[in-house]
Amino acid sequence: MNVSQEILNWFHIFGRKNLPWQKNKTIYSVWISEIMLQQTQVKTVIPYFIKFLKKYPTINSISLSSENAVLHKWSGLGYYKRAKNIYKAAKIISSKYNGQFPDVFNHVIKLPGIGKTTAGAILSISYNYFFPILDSNVKRILIRLYGIKFNKYNKKIDNVLWKKIQSILPLHNAGKFNQALMDLGSLICYPKSPKCNICPINYACMFFQKNFFQKYSVRNKI
Ligand code: ADE
Repeated sequence: MNVSQEILNWFHIFGRKNLPWQKNKTIYSVWISEIMLQQTQVKTVIPYFIKFLKKYPTINSISLSSENAVLHKWSGLGYYKRAKNIYKAAKIISSKYNGQFPDVFNHVIKLPGIGKTTAGAILSISYNYFFPILDSNVKRILIRLYGIKFNKYNKKIDNVLWKKIQSILPLHNAGKFNQALMDLGSLICYPKSPKCNICPINYACMFFQKNFFQKYSVRNKI
């Protein structure tokens, strides 16, 4: 079996499947959850997500509200630029897309607060569209798995990792696979002291098999 299939099988048993944004999923609710999860842990996001969706059940309800009211609902979550971007994006979606979150990658990525990874996460998790993601969890997994060496993380390494992740993305399960990678990153492949002994892809991993170690963190700290 290949690593992608092993990751999917692991997710089937151990992955998180009952989070509030995984129930009654719409592309709108996935968008809000992905923005909240960008810099905040799952357990912190849960109550904020529930409250936000209750107050703002639709994109138009955001754009009819005020930026201050949206910021108020965000209060305590931090990184308030995210809430401002949601408000800006909601205005654009209401005027340009009739209040429907777009399902075209090139439209999604132009919205404020959305980069390549968030656009890929939203479209793959909502519609199972074939787009990879490369957040800090996925970067760490790939660097360890393939033993990717560098002095300082740079654009060239970033391109290498995008190619790698594209090449192992399963054709029919992009959404599940992306979610599985994020879960693997946060439940097993920790930045420090990863749980390699219970990792489903340890048999193929340079970090585990060959003691390969590459210093890396998003903030260049580790
Ligand atoms: N971080 C960003 N998106 C996430 C998701 N869908 N699940 C867990 N962590 C995430």
